[in-house]
Amino acid sequence: MKDLENKIRNPATVGVIGLGYVGLPLAVEFAEEGFKVIGFDISKAKCKLVNSGKSDIADVASERVATQVKIKNFQATDEFSKLKQVDCVAICVPTPLSKTKDPDVTYILSAVEQVRNNLHKDMLVVLESTTYPGTTEELIKPKLEETGLVVGKDFYLAFSPERIDPGNVKFGTKKTPRIVGGATPKCRRIAKTLYEQVISQAHMVSSTQAAEMVKLLENTFRQVNIALVNEVALMCDRLNIDVWEIIDAATTKPFGFMPFYPGPGLGGHCIPIDPHYLSWKLKSLNYYSRFIELAGDINSHMPEYVVERVCRSLNEFGKAVRGSKIIVLGVAYKRDIDDIRESPALDVLALLEKHGAKVSYCDPYVPSLSIDKGGKKSIKLTAAALKASDIVVILTDHTNFGYQWIVDNAKLVFDTRNACKKVKNNRKKIVRL
Ligand SMILES: NC(=O)c1ccc[n+]([C@@H]2O[C@H](COP(=O)([O-])OP(=O)(O)OC[C@H]3O[C@@H](n4cnc5c(N)ncnc54)[C@H](O)[C@@H]3O)[C@@H](O)[C@H]2O)c1
Repeated sequence: MKDLENKIRNPATVGVIGLGYVGLPLAVEFAEEGFKVIGFDISKAKCKLVNSGKSDIADVASERVATQVKIKNFQATDEFSKLKQVDCVAICVPTPLSKTKDPDVTYILSAVEQVRNNLHKDMLVVLESTTYPGTTEELIKPKLEETGLVVGKDFYLAFSPERIDPGNVKFGTKKTPRIVGGATPKCRRIAKTLYEQVISQAHMVSSTQAAEMVKLLENTFRQVNIALVNEVALMCDRLNIDVWEIIDAATTKPFGFMPFYPGPGLGGHCIPIDPHYLSWKLKSLNYYSRFIELAGDINSHMPEYVVERVCRSLNEFGKAVRGSKIIVLGVAYKRDIDDIRESPALDVLALLEKHGAKVSYCDPYVPSLSIDKGGKKSIKLTAAALKASDIVVILTDHTNFGYQWIVDNAKLVFDTRNACKKVKNNRKKIVRL
């Protein structure tokens, strides 16, 4: 049965549910390739924004959205009945953790409910949200088959994890190969055909569970290696060794070593969260995932360690943290992006304030933020503000900070990212993690 595959090449109408960091770039990619794209989002504000030709995702320029909206290749809606018009739909909704660190699949379930209500023959449904192995097969397939339609025969179901790295200009949606696992071989083949229209390469795996596991391996790999290097930083501190020098030297080995760097902790919607989806699933199979739990423990204590080092650095200058003026540079969870989800900077700020410090922050990507009960606005970084501060704490190494100028004007700089690596003058003022 080649109907849907032929339609995809024609091209088909594609639906994308959830127009966030993952869904919006994907939707625009399909539209630019000539597909008719309908983006679905529960947020009316988001739909209005997209339909007015604007993007709130830094990796997608507003002009790209505007062009596709103008030529009627792309529209956004909160009317899920329009799912009836789509041939293929990708689900890109959030998968956070509950307060007890259990997977919260309610967003997936609610999106799947909408798909089920509008499921039709020859429709391809792909889940892209990161989730635990078994979600597609155990949660989604039975829900969709409640309609009486049979997977692999009447409709097609696949899992294809999004691997986007926000802010990465080298590897965007298009250039990052796709993993595709299907509920049946036919489902997989059709999903592969779809992604090959917009993505450089699609790699097929044997099942939806395998595709779900690939994504969790990738993110757990990062979580564990970051935890390892964070622990090496703690050890180097005790040994009075510079961890950055050690990593740079180890990186000269042309094989068998890959550098990871310490920092104030993990952030974003993926690395701090996704491994817990895996450990949660394994707990239900009576297996305790030791690496994930240990890595989570080390990484989640990094903000406390950063605060301890700030207190220590101030102390060396005869200054108590209580009452000190601290400027935090960067609150986004990583360089050159505006995402503060799970950002360790929020913990560092809250802890410093708890210790009685007067904390302000500057982040060109994050004009304001709410922290505990209060709110803060990003300050203008001036020589006078730097001079008036007791210590500047670099939490995110945005490229547009002038590090030499910052060091020249500050009394003391605590650098958690080795952002001042290239600073030549006044290096004595810099304390590195
Ligand atoms: N952000 C990343 O870097 C990244 C990378 C790879 C994978 N992922 C995964 O992709 C998924 C989506 O993440 P994101 O960062 O794009 O999330 P996001 O919060 O940026 O966007 C999600 C969008 O979905 C909408 N939404 C929520 N529930 C909905 C529903 N029931 N129906 C329609 N729309 C709904 C929200 O309004 C929002 O616009 C998650 O599983 C995440 O783990 C994220």
